[in-house]
Amino acid sequence: MIDDMLRTPSAVRDAERHTAHNYHPLPVVISSAEGAWLTDVDGRRYLDCLAGYSALNFGHRHPKLIEAAHAQLDRLTLTSRAFIHDQFADFCRELAALCGKDLVLPMNTGAEAVETGIKVARKWGYQVKGVTPGQANIVVAEGNFHGRTTTIVSFSTDSDARADFGPYTPGFTVVPYGDLDALTAAVDENTVAVLLEPIQGEQGVVVPPEGYLPGVRQLCTDRNVLFIADEIQSGLGRTGHTFACDHEGVVPDMYLLGKALGGGIVPVSAVAANADVLGVLKPGQHGSTFGGNPLACAVATEVVRLLATGEFQRRSAELGERLRTGLEALLGKGLVAVRVRGLWAGVDIDPALMSGREACERLMERGVLAKDTHGSTIRLAPPLVITADEIDHAVAQLAAVLAG
Ligand SMILES: Cc1ncc(COP(=O)(O)O)c(C=O)c1O
Repeated sequence: MIDDMLRTPSAVRDAERHTAHNYHPLPVVISSAEGAWLTDVDGRRYLDCLAGYSALNFGHRHPKLIEAAHAQLDRLTLTSRAFIHDQFADFCRELAALCGKDLVLPMNTGAEAVETGIKVARKWGYQVKGVTPGQANIVVAEGNFHGRTTTIVSFSTDSDARADFGPYTPGFTVVPYGDLDALTAAVDENTVAVLLEPIQGEQGVVVPPEGYLPGVRQLCTDRNVLFIADEIQSGLGRTGHTFACDHEGVVPDMYLLGKALGGGIVPVSAVAANADVLGVLKPGQHGSTFGGNPLACAVATEVVRLLATGEFQRRSAELGERLRTGLEALLGKGLVAVRVRGLWAGVDIDPALMSGREACERLMERGVLAKDTHGSTIRLAPPLVITADEIDHAVAQLAAVLAG
């Protein structure tokens, strides 16, 4: 098709005209998708290697999830939590079982799950641990990404995320990620929680040193501090296990979940913890109009059932090794570092060659969609339904981009 017959350029301009420019999307306009593939307004197809930042772990429009959504749309969509609906009990029971916890608290976005975790930890600190009123402290890591609310950006170390959004919420101490000594030194009698991503996704799929997460677990147990694992991006099959913490056999006190929990259809997030922790919340102390709505529960229950089969975790572990082999072969051929856990890879391109953004634009021209994160790092996180051949295809396109 000749360029001036394409719909994409005007569709990109239209999309930018009446929106705040808080994103810098690739100039591609998607109109449909299935499985691991996207189609744009000009009929061009792309292999999705971002999967909605892991919100599409089960691929686009997974038949079981779409069926659950359609069936629920025809019956009941919203009640608010003022009334109980018939999808709620199964969702809570099955998600709690998947997490090995007593209770769950459903919300909508990831940031809300993080805010919920912070509130629960503070209340637990005052009511159970006996922290001096107003003094509760939470230790977090440098390079964290937990969302965009004013409280969450208060403890971000990324100036784009934080600058000019103050005054900032107090009560957080930031320590280097992966440094157990620094963490140990930061914990004191007012510490109610350690809040960490078991792998830092936005930072470029940064995996902490082996032994770090078990060390955090032990420290939290010894010092009567809650370990909150933000598994919003790393969890639900992405890394080859249900949770990234599973790689080292670590069980946190609280899981924060989101993204893939909504099956790429509706925003669903949740906090999972035992009754001695989540039980501190009483009626009126926390909530959300849409949290745990019937449509969300119907879809998310089906997500939990897909995960309960173990099939997606297995695919991610097996195909992740193929992705690792393919990417490691490009070290010294345009890549300077590769970090892989399951079907999740952080890939550092030689900055002398090109930026991450340029690499993603060139990948787009070759029919592969990925997204840069910091500088020359790109993240590959395809839907877990991707095939071995499609992984080889994505790696071959990256190799071609790096070869210029
Ligand atoms: C680890 C982590 N926590 C929290 C969030 C925030 O989720 P949401 O964008 O749904 O608010 C994200 C989003 O990227 C994330 O990666």
